[in-house]
Amino acid sequence: MLLQDALAVVTGGGSGIGFATAERFVSEGARVVISGRDAEKLQRAADKLGANALPVVADAANAADMRRLYETAVAHFGRAVDVIVANAGVSRQTPVRETSLAQFAQVFDINVGGVYVTVREALAFLARPASVILVASLAANQGTKHFSAYCASKAAVVSLAKSFAAEFVESGIRVNSISPGVAKTPIFDSLGMSEAELLQWSHVIPMKRPAEPAEIAGAILFLASDASRYMTGADLAVDGGMSGISPF
Ligand SMILES: NC(=O)c1ccc[n+]([C@@H]2O[C@H](COP(=O)([O-])OP(=O)(O)OC[C@H]3O[C@@H](n4cnc5c(N)ncnc54)[C@H](OP(=O)(O)O)[C@@H]3O)[C@@H](O)[C@H]2O)c1
Repeated sequence: MLLQDALAVVTGGGSGIGFATAERFVSEGARVVISGRDAEKLQRAADKLGANALPVVADAANAADMRRLYETAVAHFGRAVDVIVANAGVSRQTPVRETSLAQFAQVFDINVGGVYVTVREALAFLARPASVILVASLAANQGTKHFSAYCASKAAVVSLAKSFAAEFVESGIRVNSISPGVAKTPIFDSLGMSEAELLQWSHVIPMKRPAEPAEIAGAILFLASDASRYMTGADLAVDGGMSGISPF
């Protein structure tokens, strides 16, 4: 068991990569608090995870919500937080000619402000040592038509992981980011994209298929566990080869 008795918080744990991560953590002996804004979705996820999971409705970009989440987590499970997975995020099409500053800022508020607040509010509740994982994206390093806000937000997440790592290295808090490529999750529903359309991307993925969320969760588990204890400030690509090798 890689996370026996550890307490982990996974934001956006009600679906996709966050849910798969919570599921994997529980199977490795952890107690897990999952958060999100949709109470029903979160409760359904918690029911599947069982007694070692606690759902807390909280907006990751709201400092008071996140403080309440950590207070609840520590009170409920009776120990400090060992692992944080700042996973909550949104993807929106933002064609430059049609996107207002307010629409651009909304993506940044959640994807960047949310990660910032998730980590800042955690500091008073973290165990030592602790591992913090920020979910970035391949998009951080790959410009994508109509997704400038999302891509820039994920570049900021990779950068935050490095500065947080530098700031906390002497406190025993490791911070790394993870950059998935394309994974089959509900984030594509929010973009109006079907599974068939998603599968069409397979030809640009060296491994010729999108990831299952569990395959991203496996890499997050590695960063969460003692197996990665000499890593901090790193970004781990989990993308079927997309960032490193040609698909042709
Ligand atoms: N799927 C991919 O191919 C891919 C690739 C690279 C990176 N990622 C990243 O992976 C992360 C997880 O995404 P996913 O693909 O698993 O999609 P997903 O299933 O849509 O998960 C995103 C989760 O974030 C939560 N969320 C969104 N805004 C929130 C907020 N303000 N506060 C709290 N929770 C919030 C959502 O729950 P509520 O709606 O209930 O709030 C949802 O459960 C995201 O950061 C995404 O950018 C995904």
